[in-house]
Amino acid sequence: MRQQFVAGNWKMHGGLAQNRRLLQDVLVGLAGVSGVEVAVFVPFPYLAQAQAALAGTPVGWGAQTVNEHPQGAYTGEVSVAMLRDFACRYVLVGHSERRAIFGESDAAVAEKFAAALAGGLRPVLCVGETLDQREAGQTAAVVAAQLDAALQRVGVAALANAVVAYEPVWAIGTGRTASPEQAQEVHAAIRAQVAGADAQVAERLQILYGGSMKPQNAAELLAMPDIDGGLIGGASLVANDFLAICRAAVR
Ligand code: PGA
Repeated sequence: MRQQFVAGNWKMHGGLAQNRRLLQDVLVGLAGVSGVEVAVFVPFPYLAQAQAALAGTPVGWGAQTVNEHPQGAYTGEVSVAMLRDFACRYVLVGHSERRAIFGESDAAVAEKFAAALAGGLRPVLCVGETLDQREAGQTAAVVAAQLDAALQRVGVAALANAVVAYEPVWAIGTGRTASPEQAQEVHAAIRAQVAGADAQVAERLQILYGGSMKPQNAAELLAMPDIDGGLIGGASLVANDFLAICRAAVR
């Protein structure tokens, strides 16, 4: 059975003092909780803090994006090797905010995904449709194209070292969650698409749901057969909410 994975995406939130309390509370609350993989995706400046607080604990950490180049004149950017210097295990790639606000195309996301894999990180590839796309009946096609761009770039075998997160854009930060059935339908389609290339890789692939996942709706989403965890934004900033979701993920 696939292990559930609950990941907090802090986005551009936090501060040294606030993070210290949050990480401490999460570690204390997770004592005695086993059977769920947990990680936090923190802003770059706090990677050292996350490493110091979390090294040797069951909670992993990572960054929210990465540049695909190994080094060079890319002012403001951060490489895979730099993330490795802070012992990151994971990195998010292709979050919808990166795609929409920072103009990352499917092809650019695929390059980041490939660089992360090549550098030994476990990338979480985010995919998902906008409200307009859903209403136009394009959900399946949009998600399939986003996934396909990454798949074509790295090959299906590499997906054994990656995670996919389905995050409908209309559900992110809006309080409007996909219903368990709506999410399951897309998760099943993602798994089927991967299975078309390699059934074993598909069977093992963790596919997370993201978009207003909260303690109140986590259990019913996580109970769906193809939902293997959550990528949590707002609720990951509140220790008790994040912990409640982690507990709901224990199978
Ligand atoms: P949300 O964000 O939980 O605040 O909706 C999820 C995400 O963007 O990863």
